[in-house]
Amino acid sequence: MTEDYHNPKQRLVIAICGASGSIYGIRLLAELIKLPIELHVIISDAGRQVMAHELGYGGRLPDILDSIGPLPRRQNSRLIEHPWNSFFASPASGSFHHDGMAIVPCSMKTIGAIAAGLADNLIHRAADICLKERRPLILAPRETPFSRIHLQNLLRLSEAGAVIVPPSPGFYHHPKSTMDLVDFVVARILDQLHISHTLLKEWGNDAINENSLSKSG
Ligand SMILES: Cc1cc2nc3c(=O)[nH]c(=O)nc-3n(C[C@H](O)[C@H](O)[C@H](O)COP(=O)(O)O)c2cc1C
Repeated sequence: MTEDYHNPKQRLVIAICGASGSIYGIRLLAELIKLPIELHVIISDAGRQVMAHELGYGGRLPDILDSIGPLPRRQNSRLIEHPWNSFFASPASGSFHHDGMAIVPCSMKTIGAIAAGLADNLIHRAADICLKERRPLILAPRETPFSRIHLQNLLRLSEAGAVIVPPSPGFYHHPKSTMDLVDFVVARILDQLHISHTLLKEWGNDAINENSLSKSG
């Protein structure tokens, strides 16, 4: 649990782009909404289209979150959705203080735009601000295979301070369902945002001992 856990002034910016894997972004929001956090959400136009295609969700964000199951009891969380093409929204300015931004999933178009310093929409602009203000910027890029251009852009962003968290789940926690795989990735993103969670057990001494016992047995 981080010191900020009970601080209702904690603010995060969460964006969802038009890469495959909208469920990662929605699942991330469903976890964050349980906490006393002010959430600023931006969904790109393509993000909405891919979400509708992959999950059948559309419409208002609270309804979308409702669709994945009963919403957990909200503890002073605030959900503020900004139009993806508005530069008048609060995350478009460096004077708007927040604790970090995550783009989940992040398309190669948005990776390219941020790497090039373009601020063509609110997601690019908000990410650009994170880099210039030295605030956490977590990117979950989804594409396969990566081209040389994608890899160069990702390296450029990593060197500029972004944390790259590809949605590539591990299998060492013995997942039983697709949601277990989704939660693996979401857990790693929450870790980077310094948000406490129970989605994934920490790999600890017990697991290491079990592993070495089974090897030696
Ligand atoms: C069904 C579907 C899946 C897509 N998956 C990806 C993907 O995994 N990665 C990616 O970079 N683009 C993907 N795209 C293309 C992006 O949606 C497109 O490049 C878009 O311009 C991204 O815009 P945005 O970054 O503003 O959301 C996909 C498009 C569709 C229709």
